[in-house]
Amino acid sequence: MSVSPAHPADSSDPSGLSGDPKSSPDAVAPALTDQRIVVLDFGSQYAQLIARRVREQNVYCQILRHDLSAERIAELAPKGIILSGGPSSVYDEGAPRCDPELFRLGIPVLGICYGMQLACEALGGKVDNTETREYGHATCQIVQPGTLFDKLPDAIDVWMSHGDQVSSISDSFEALARTRTCPYAAIGHKELPVYGMQFHPEVTHTPLGGQVLANFVRGICGCEPNWQLSDFAEAAITQIRDRVGDRRVICGLSGGVDSSVVAALLYKAIGTQLTCILIDNGLLRKNEQSLVIDEFSNHFKTDLHVVHAEDRFLASLAGVAEPQEKRRRIGHDFIECFKKEAESIDNAHFLAQGTLYPDVIESGADPDGPAATIKLHHNVGGLPEELGFELIEPLRDLFKDEVRRLGLELGLPEKLVWRHPFPGPGLAVRCLGEVTRDKLEVLRAADAIVIEEIENAGLYRETSQTFAVLLPVQSVGVMGDARTYDNAIAVRSVNTNDFMTADWSRLPYDLLARISTRIINEVQGVNRVCYDISSKPPATIEWE
Ligand code: XMP
Repeated sequence: MSVSPAHPADSSDPSGLSGDPKSSPDAVAPALTDQRIVVLDFGSQYAQLIARRVREQNVYCQILRHDLSAERIAELAPKGIILSGGPSSVYDEGAPRCDPELFRLGIPVLGICYGMQLACEALGGKVDNTETREYGHATCQIVQPGTLFDKLPDAIDVWMSHGDQVSSISDSFEALARTRTCPYAAIGHKELPVYGMQFHPEVTHTPLGGQVLANFVRGICGCEPNWQLSDFAEAAITQIRDRVGDRRVICGLSGGVDSSVVAALLYKAIGTQLTCILIDNGLLRKNEQSLVIDEFSNHFKTDLHVVHAEDRFLASLAGVAEPQEKRRRIGHDFIECFKKEAESIDNAHFLAQGTLYPDVIESGADPDGPAATIKLHHNVGGLPEELGFELIEPLRDLFKDEVRRLGLELGLPEKLVWRHPFPGPGLAVRCLGEVTRDKLEVLRAADAIVIEEIENAGLYRETSQTFAVLLPVQSVGVMGDARTYDNAIAVRSVNTNDFMTADWSRLPYDLLARISTRIINEVQGVNRVCYDISSKPPATIEWE
């Protein structure tokens, strides 16, 4: 139900990971394929992106903690190991290291940036701190075609982002590629299947990076492309059926993509043994309730309970202007409403949740996974364990873009699958200050216009999150011959990969003009529209 902080808005963005089969009763993927690549995470901002890029080769990829023992890695039997980059210098005290024995397991290893420097350090080679940090585009000359650089031209554009670099290699290594400033842009060990590259093949700024990774994963590691979402869905459905037996599963629906895909998957698995609950807290977007009802009552014929709790939520929000207090009250009411409804459902044993792979990685739930680095800071809409249900989390192996593709495969409409994220506390955090029914009506109408115009301009999928905010100010205007003293709406539209940082969308002026004119003409009580041009940080995406 909650909005994950990692909501890629296009299919080329990163997202999260899954667990060891022992750690998760829902781990479907490892049973699906005996071929996996593992990424050891040294704190790189790109670790998830590497895993996603590998999965684009239809090869299953997991992110693991960097200090996992070589013994444990051998037990997991990956077909290849990728050492991610990271912010440290190999000479820093306490810099993260891997078990050097892993280079001798006979499993192919690819070190990227910091990972390459670790490989060199372990196997002979010198890493130097360069005077200036190299950050940006470079042209990489391939000096040893084949293997890593199979099917690539003699020179490729690459993206560099490093301070240290390998300055000399031992006789055991050979240079495979170089740039003007970096003599060892890529290296290969002469006897062991160990490779390194100083540049980042996983980012889109290395346009042919996908081929480099494919050469490692498919060519060097010999992985078959057998990670398919259709197989995933089939395996997940069988696993859900086996686990659930004749008991009942409850699934909270929010209108968001994660909970919708969970519900669709469960419906395919157990049909009428699924009960969905939608709490209408009065803070939903225009037509949100009908969209959910249409999809889950009319299309998928699930047993859908809609709880009309608008009055309750608005009563508890009355007189409250402080954003965190608004969130707290909404979260509390949500749990109470959900609990009450769930108690009325016979034989309910399981609660389904849309936990995704990034949530698993970041929560530290996988004992082999990297420790939590970024804690989820939004938990409104989450449900506490005390509800007493066993959890079913069928998406915990998937990245966001995979969830979207799965949704389409399960027959969910594009409109739902590509919805922008919406915060658990809903319109309450976009109606600044005290929330009232009247203000919500103004905001909902303005928001619907913003979305409609963005869709008409063909820009909905181009932006990551777009919405209206009702500001707590009145300003003077003139309409016809009369002076007005009315509300102001802010339009917010951002582009982001991970929702942790974001830039404001460069929407065309004509589109902004249309949005403004329509809101002022069609929404009573608004006489001014502003466009928010702040990036995150220092601003946040939401205004509260
Ligand atoms: P901020 O405003 O922190 O938002 O830049 C980042 C992303 O998180 C969403 N968000 C929330 N989601 N409960 C949620 O489930 C919340 O309280 C909450 N606050 C922000 C926001 O919409 C954006 O996608």
